[in-house]
Amino acid sequence: MRSVVRFRSFERDSDLRRMQRAANVDDLRLIARRRLPRGVFDYIDGAAEDEITMDRNQADYRSWEFAPAVLRDVGRIDTSAELLGKPLPFPLVLAPTGFTRIVEPPGELSVARAAARRGIPYALSTLGTRSIEEVAEAGAGGRNWFQVYVWKDRGMVRNMIERAAAAGYEALCITVDLAVPGRRERDVRNGMTLPPKLGLDMLIEGMLKPSWTWRFITADPITFANVVGLHEQDGSSAVELASLVNDQFDPSLSWSDIEWFRSLWDGPIIIKGIQSVADARRAVEHGVEAIAVSNHGGRQLEGAPTPIGLIEPIAQEVGGSVEIICDGGIRRGSDILKALALGARAVMAGRAYLYGLGAGGEKGVDWVLDFLDEGMRRTMALAGVRSLAEVNRQLVRRRR
Ligand SMILES: Cc1cc2nc3c(=O)[nH]c(=O)nc-3n(C[C@H](O)[C@H](O)[C@H](O)COP(=O)(O)O)c2cc1C
Repeated sequence: MRSVVRFRSFERDSDLRRMQRAANVDDLRLIARRRLPRGVFDYIDGAAEDEITMDRNQADYRSWEFAPAVLRDVGRIDTSAELLGKPLPFPLVLAPTGFTRIVEPPGELSVARAAARRGIPYALSTLGTRSIEEVAEAGAGGRNWFQVYVWKDRGMVRNMIERAAAAGYEALCITVDLAVPGRRERDVRNGMTLPPKLGLDMLIEGMLKPSWTWRFITADPITFANVVGLHEQDGSSAVELASLVNDQFDPSLSWSDIEWFRSLWDGPIIIKGIQSVADARRAVEHGVEAIAVSNHGGRQLEGAPTPIGLIEPIAQEVGGSVEIICDGGIRRGSDILKALALGARAVMAGRAYLYGLGAGGEKGVDWVLDFLDEGMRRTMALAGVRSLAEVNRQLVRRRR
């Protein structure tokens, strides 16, 4: 019997054990769905209105196929790139995601540590639940970016930017696609507040997801760690994201404000949320170093164009003058390669690492980074390209 039946060695680490049979990011998504209360999972997984834009963000990658070359000696694959004038081992940036601690208590610290280990940038959100300083410490030696939402109270914005500068952040990422909140209907149905309120439905959910609940109630209370005075101002500890944005964010933000940011920030500026060739041109006219072509993962304007669909026309127009980051729908290494072939310098991913965090904490984020890295190397080898210098428009074509 023993000669034919071999038992797998038992994985002692419970996080790794949970992910042992996961084959891709979608599998981690399912594990995260099992572990997280519905309201929390839906907050991450959901998008605006009918969620068509979110679905298209991913589906559009499938409309591109590779034009591979064989017998190219792919024994050595090099994924190194350059972003904002610095080397990057792998052309990926971890996107800013607000309220990460509701997934698991260390939250942004886990993400910052995983990013720093790889030498890839991580953008901490204005709506982060760990402070600018804590994340700088956790991600020490890495590349920390700070993502700005512009509040009506500009003094508060200035204060956050000054703290980011003092804490050694590399770049400022200004998100411009949230003038008003997108209608995220799963959050409406779930009555989602940040942090989640412990009502009767939450208590029932809590019994169904005991490990999340235990960690949630035994950890420090979750707050928007960088928004000084918000909870006092609001008079309560839980807010609906939509009313927070309506009450506090500045919808009058315009191109002329970019100069104000320049006066406060010496380093590179990235505008996140560019969704047209004309706006990409305007961003160049305003002298920013990079743009993230993004529709906020489909969470804002339903019916927005997909990032992968916009990369080529934007790269043709402004590719020589600004660095282009493709943000949205990345689930595989092959997606990254397609975005690069169409003219992006790097990509950003949000949900992919959040699913990892939900499935296996910090090790889940590592898992996703390994998966994307290996996937990109494998695709490069199979497509016959050895380094990013060899990746060009001829590598992909649209499927008829
Ligand atoms: C749960 C969640 C929270 C987000 N919070 C922010 C945020 O605070 N600031 C921001 O600029 N973008 C935010 N985004 C958008 C991401 O930065 C990114 O644009 C998006 O996730 C990309 O799509 P993907 O999830 O398909 O990778 C958030 C996205 C998710 C899923």
